[in-house]
Amino acid sequence: MKMWTFENPVNITFGIGALNAIAGIVAGRPCCLVTYDEKYFSELAASLISSIGEPQSVINNITPNPDFETLRDNCQTFANSVSADTVIIALGGGSVIDTAKVLASTDKGFEPVQQFLETGENETRLASYPIIAVPTTAGTGSEVTRWATVWDGKSQKKYSLARPSLYPTHAVIDPALTRSLPRQMTIYTALDALSHSLESLWNRNANPVSSNYAVYAASQVISALPLLVDDLENIGLRTRISKACLFAGLAFSNTKTALAHSLSYPITLKYGIIHGLACSFSLPKIMASVIGQDSACDQNLKRIFGPDLDTGVNNLEQFLAGLGVSTRASSYGVQKDEWQGMLTNALAGERGLNFIGSSEKVLEMLILE
Ligand SMILES: NC(=O)c1ccc[n+]([C@@H]2O[C@H](COP(=O)([O-])OP(=O)(O)OC[C@H]3O[C@@H](n4cnc5c(N)ncnc54)[C@H](O)[C@@H]3O)[C@@H](O)[C@H]2O)c1
Ligand SMILES: [Fe+2]
Repeated sequence: MKMWTFENPVNITFGIGALNAIAGIVAGRPCCLVTYDEKYFSELAASLISSIGEPQSVINNITPNPDFETLRDNCQTFANSVSADTVIIALGGGSVIDTAKVLASTDKGFEPVQQFLETGENETRLASYPIIAVPTTAGTGSEVTRWATVWDGKSQKKYSLARPSLYPTHAVIDPALTRSLPRQMTIYTALDALSHSLESLWNRNANPVSSNYAVYAASQVISALPLLVDDLENIGLRTRISKACLFAGLAFSNTKTALAHSLSYPITLKYGIIHGLACSFSLPKIMASVIGQDSACDQNLKRIFGPDLDTGVNNLEQFLAGLGVSTRASSYGVQKDEWQGMLTNALAGERGLNFIGSSEKVLEMLILE
């Protein structure tokens, strides 16, 4: 077996009431609070502020998928108020946590980050402020990863801001916060985590620790999500899904994602398909293409789906169908004449190159229906 390492420096606090731990972690430091401009979050922020004190700044204009334009404004607001000992608190889903990671990288406005994203140059100009991530979706796992997905809608490009210092110092995960997530968002965010776990298994960077996290995460999402969608207030099921998403995050924090994510980015950019849906509809066909390609991957997939992996593919299809998710790319607007090009680009993309399967098999299995 080849040598492997596993590393994750994030200090994790998990459980109902975890929110109460934040004041102790902030420990009187000046802070920037990042969240959404919605009633539920204003109330949550107010209650947090009553325990941690008035923040230096509140950035609350976060919308799904952090984009260059909004980030430019956000970075300016941050630059106007920051001090050397500022800590950033991200109270929200992946878009809030990823925005916090951009803020943490600059106290001089967005330009140094933009330059680094576009050219890979001048990382020395970037800052490294600490982040306390408090996820309210379950989820992206961004609370335990060292990268942020950043979107340039104008140029139709997706970037990954990846730096070791972007690991939040702390992840505070209170499953009760996800109880207000509507049914559809509950499904899409949990499917994102299912994709993270499966993508970390059919991955060149997989190792026994990441795979153990991934098997647990995928099994839990598959068993608990169909129950949760009919019982959204059930705190036991919310806790199982939050924990599964955290474990999926830990898995792919060391492997990164693979083909399903690589394929998702143009579909989100061009057709506006929400991330969790865009990165999960292709999972059954990608799984079908990878069976028999790598014995460790097969073994791990069997731990999730049982001994017959062809039946496993059918069960995964049924699971998605039961949640109302189509596994056909054409359902998301993809046209026949662009599909082959999308697949070829996805296989050649940075994340696509992590995929352990063969291109021929992918092109054979993922035909446009
Ligand atoms: N950095 C990473 O490791 C990583 C991994 C996966 C995805 N991502 C990125 O994360 C983003 C998606 O994040 P997301 O799926 O968490 O959603 P999001 O942060 O984009 O939020 C989506 C919507 O959910 C609502 N919402 C969030 N929490 C809620 C709650 N508790 N109750 C009610 N409504 C709530 C928000 O108001 C928002 O309108 C994408 O940009 C994706 O690319 C990053
Ligand atoms: Fe994802």
